[in-house]
Amino acid sequence: MPKVYIETYGCQMNVADTELIRGHLSRSGFSAVSEPETADVILLNTCAIREHAEERIFGRLGALSKHKNRRPHVQIGLAGCMAQHFRDNLLDKTPHLDFVAGPDAYRKLPELLAGDPFVDVRLDKEETYADVQPERGEGVRAWITIMRGCDKFCTFCIVPYVRGRERSLPPDAVLEQVREAAASGYREVVFLGQTVNAYRHGDTDFAMLLRAANEVPGIERIRFTSPHPSDMTESAIDAMAECEKVCPQLHLPLQSGSDAVLNRMERGYSVAEYLALVDRLRAAVPGIALSTDMIVGFPGESAGDFERSLEVMRRVGYDSAFMFKYSSRSHTKAGKWQETVAEEDKGERLQAMIALQEETAASINRAAVGTEVEVLVEGPARRRDDWLAGKTAHFKTAVFPANGFAVGDTAAVRVADATAHTLIGAASGEDVR
Ligand code: 5AD
Ligand code: SF4
Repeated sequence: MPKVYIETYGCQMNVADTELIRGHLSRSGFSAVSEPETADVILLNTCAIREHAEERIFGRLGALSKHKNRRPHVQIGLAGCMAQHFRDNLLDKTPHLDFVAGPDAYRKLPELLAGDPFVDVRLDKEETYADVQPERGEGVRAWITIMRGCDKFCTFCIVPYVRGRERSLPPDAVLEQVREAAASGYREVVFLGQTVNAYRHGDTDFAMLLRAANEVPGIERIRFTSPHPSDMTESAIDAMAECEKVCPQLHLPLQSGSDAVLNRMERGYSVAEYLALVDRLRAAVPGIALSTDMIVGFPGESAGDFERSLEVMRRVGYDSAFMFKYSSRSHTKAGKWQETVAEEDKGERLQAMIALQEETAASINRAAVGTEVEVLVEGPARRRDDWLAGKTAHFKTAVFPANGFAVGDTAAVRVADATAHTLIGAASGEDVR
């Protein structure tokens, strides 16, 4: 049995794709190993979203090539977004690289691995892998890809070019996965898609899918990521509000707080529209936790534009945020524009934004001190013996004394202290499930 070792980079979609690849390969006679030392096939499932991500992977590729010294039969390959990004010239340019498989080529991997070095980067408008059973990791949370690709073409983003057009899985296939996840002991499902709330298959839209998933017994929590603000319909908000398993938490990427920048990003909404959406969400789902993605230093971003980003962040008060320096990407529209913000200024803006976000998150979390939260236990806490860690419904990390609780329990935890990233609790000793 050939042994395959997979390393995953980038977003949750890639984590879920690795689970698909692993499932598909293991049914085709491969066995998965957790170290490259004994592997016959070494596969990096890659990310192309920013230049830094690609540089890291090239570095890693170099380091892994040593496994061919004593075992020349080892095949090393790239899958995922970066594979798609560089396509054909990658194999010629990169010594030790044997194969390149884009995000729509995983089905053919077993067959292709049996032959000569190959590049398969055809994008397939139809491929959803709906019938491929993923081999999921351990834990309480199952990731379920419900749609793939993106049709939005934000001017900074490479995703539509490397992952191709938007396509959704049939609702039956999604619900079957939810049931399977429940039967395998997972307590939470997270629906994934590049613009997850653009989900539509036949007459079934995203709101209907949420409502159907809410009915599946055994699953306690439902989340989804990442929605696009423009696709956040009233019916999706209603479904969030009415489905008790759908967590009061939403990742709602803003990218910039300046209308001028949002326009050039072609995001499809204004600041006022975004804020109105936030108001609607807060009215429908009281206490909803919001997080965001922000980019600093987009071409043309003035000091005033940047200030507006900070202003909107202050106004919304995000529970957490992923903040990035703009990175120019080939293929994209903005990639052809002159960069206007010096690297040093990008760095300063990013630091200022992170500092603001840390303050906001710390103050939101401090306000939770004294309250009781429900924590779905995921495993031991990293820093303290006999403590457990898990997530609250708001997707906050909480740590607390184990007190007899185990992985998969839902513990009522009294919050005793808080940092910007963690709630620190004392368990009340009650299993609230
Ligand atoms: N430069 C910097 N950040 C980017 N993102 C996407 N493309 C780029 C880019 N070219 C960020 C966006 C997106 C997140 C997944 O990555 O904020 O929401
Ligand atoms: Fe990229 Fe925009 Fe699509 Fe998100 S919506 S994946 S940022 S193009």
